[in-house]
Amino acid sequence: MINFIEKLPKAELHLHIEGTFEPELMFEIAKRNNIKIPYNSIEEIKEAYKFSCLQDFLDIYYQGANVLITEKDFYDLTYSYLEKCAEQNVLHTEIMFDPQTHTQRGVKFETVINGISKACKDAEKNLNVSSLLIMSYLRHLSEEDAFKTLEQSLPFKNKITAVGLDSSEKGNPPSKFIKVFEASIKEGYIPVAHAGEEGDADYVWEAIDLLGIKRIDHGNNCLQDENLVADIIERDLALTVCPLSNTALKVVEDLKDHPLKNMLKKGLKATINSDDPAYFGGQVNQNFIEIQKALDLTKEEIYELAKNSFQYSLASDAKKEAFIKQLEIYYNNNK
Ligand code: ADE
Ligand code: ZN
Repeated sequence: MINFIEKLPKAELHLHIEGTFEPELMFEIAKRNNIKIPYNSIEEIKEAYKFSCLQDFLDIYYQGANVLITEKDFYDLTYSYLEKCAEQNVLHTEIMFDPQTHTQRGVKFETVINGISKACKDAEKNLNVSSLLIMSYLRHLSEEDAFKTLEQSLPFKNKITAVGLDSSEKGNPPSKFIKVFEASIKEGYIPVAHAGEEGDADYVWEAIDLLGIKRIDHGNNCLQDENLVADIIERDLALTVCPLSNTALKVVEDLKDHPLKNMLKKGLKATINSDDPAYFGGQVNQNFIEIQKALDLTKEEIYELAKNSFQYSLASDAKKEAFIKQLEIYYNNNK
């Protein structure tokens, strides 16, 4: 089964580039930028990565991102993640980035986007990994601040496919961002949002009804409301589920209690993702491996999850078709 998962062609649809920052690279970049970080060793970092909730994690995650200054820093961070994609048979990835985490510290928007997008271009050529970018607004900041970010992004519109919404969910409902999502859609960006990770089902309703999202990041708490589940199925929206993130942030106590199987049984279109792999103890393949074991998923269910990852990606129809063909050949030869 592990071998089946490792070789399985797949896409990753929920990944924060700042969350891929491995301690080794963090030390290296901190050193070359002459920035002090509050850890003396990789062991100390690992010790600090024990979280009791989303906010607990976010505080440490934003601190880690502080060492990213130059275009090369963003390039190295992104390329290093894309190398991991190639190793894991991730054919396509949709990378979220948080411009405000960096522009707030005086780093220019163009530094961030140029570093990330150059790495994506090189990885497409050298590693055959396809990717696209999701610019995520930080929901703990104001809508006005998100509007500034939208404005800054416009000269780079051709490098960005979608807009997202992340950071502290509780107390920052989707309704806070109606206008900026409307404006983003007018500019041609596809809307997605984190909803129902810590927030209740009403946050998922709002994200669908008020922001018009095309995919739900996490979405676990949609299960609180049967009508919502029916609505998500009716609208054919996928959930980007992140098992190891859920246990690391205590959204789910134990992987054995994870709602994934229940989601699939109800007819929801789920995908498996790593969210912030450097912080939550595993890349996308590790997420597949651990959730398979915990819920005793069959090869057919794993195949279904991988198929959803291509089907519900934001790639062109031609690309999706080619990816799915590759997956089907693999599955027919290995089931
Ligand atoms: N930013 C990075 N990871 C996140 C998560 N799991 N939820 C909300 N915001 C995030
Ligand atoms: Zn996330």
